[in-house]
Amino acid sequence: MPGALMFVHMLPLQSSTSIGIDTIALAVPRAYIDLRDLAEARGVPAGKYLQGLGVEQMAVAAPDEDPVALAVNAARRALRLSGTRPTDIGLCITGTETAVDHSKPVAAFVHGLLGLSRACRTFETKHACFGGTAGLLNALDWIASGSARGRAALVVCTDIARYPIGSAGEPTQGAGAVAMIVREQPRLVALEVGAGGSFASDVDDFWRPLDRKDALVDGRFSVECYLAALAAAYVEWLRLGGAQGGLPARTCYHVPYGKMARKAHRQRKQLDGVSEEAADASFAVEVEPSLMLPARVGNVYTGSLYLALASLLHLEAMVLEGERVGLFSYGSGCSAEFFAGRVVAGAGAWAAELGLDEPLRGRRRLSIVEYEALRRGDADVDRRPAPAGEVGGRRPAEGLVGFLGVDAGERRVYGAA
Ligand code: CAA
Repeated sequence: MPGALMFVHMLPLQSSTSIGIDTIALAVPRAYIDLRDLAEARGVPAGKYLQGLGVEQMAVAAPDEDPVALAVNAARRALRLSGTRPTDIGLCITGTETAVDHSKPVAAFVHGLLGLSRACRTFETKHACFGGTAGLLNALDWIASGSARGRAALVVCTDIARYPIGSAGEPTQGAGAVAMIVREQPRLVALEVGAGGSFASDVDDFWRPLDRKDALVDGRFSVECYLAALAAAYVEWLRLGGAQGGLPARTCYHVPYGKMARKAHRQRKQLDGVSEEAADASFAVEVEPSLMLPARVGNVYTGSLYLALASLLHLEAMVLEGERVGLFSYGSGCSAEFFAGRVVAGAGAWAAELGLDEPLRGRRRLSIVEYEALRRGDADVDRRPAPAGEVGGRRPAEGLVGFLGVDAGERRVYGAA
């Protein structure tokens, strides 16, 4: 039929097709503070931060390390390590709750700075810390539906977690990005598509009014909301048959701070009929390996669950091949999902090749005076003029993309070293 439009019906993939996370890559700021130093400066016993909250170090972003730069650097690393060409990506989603513009999404900058295809569906997802998971679940459905047509999805979670200086939330800050290549026949974790337990409820546990950089939080209430959401999402996951074939060998939780994962694990185990003592006894094996990287980076909001997964795979992918891993995502406000996946054969060697902790090497330990000076400068960072012509003195670090400033029309300017 010359001239007539041809509609090809794409059949959804068979449910036996394996879809999931092929590659993970991180980007973290070049500097951090040690929580012992912060405790001393705030007149708090170090034990409260180290054992009470389960945090050790906290990444601190420099002016050129905004959420866009972190996202692009994580994504560039993911593409390079996985051997994915920009034209192989058909869906680009960024999850963030610390976007740099009320309208232009971080995803648009990522799309441009990576040189992705014009035919790539590109957008940003927001639901507090759940934004990254919203992107990931969307990517899984996109592949399962047949819309991907053999292409891969790029999902990037990027955030700078910030609370007022001296507030209870201050030791639970952090910054970083986690990029994931999602595709068929993944080399790390095959996810169970369409089997997650969802939960949502309109609550005021954590929020950030449009004119503020620092988040506001009802801290103790936010912990209650997290645990209530976990219970509801987990029960729904069980109802949908999640426990058929056995419970996961490991579980990664959203990690605003390490202790929260311990509370979460207790809560979940109680629903399995396990006592608090037995739940705590299983923590070292089932959860602790996922907390190594979060304890060194802090809360990265949308990326926190995936930083925990990266930590687990970095330490244990080899022994977990063939095993199931549970995943719990929580976003204040609130939305949550409990879902699961299976570590695939060969993931151990692939995770070792990815060098998941490499971006944390060679970081500089800031004094609290330096950290506070950076924070004081935060308010003006988004308004500083970009150098005209050459990038001048504001060169990003070697091999990285950095935020340089805004031009006369208040457009954000990025440069690569
Ligand atoms: N040695 C050892 N432990 C100590 C100690 C010491 N010297 N002093 C205190 N502790 C323990 C306390 O017993 C307590 O332990 P439990 O939680 O097991 O009871 C722990 O340290 C924390 O002490 P407080 O509860 O007194 O701490 P706080 O009230 O000053 O602040 C917080 C805790 C409310 C979580 C605060 O850090 C905060 O507001 N953080 C930001 C909000 C947040 O992360 N909420 C998590 C759920 S919401 C979410 O997950 C979304 C998100 O990413 C933000």
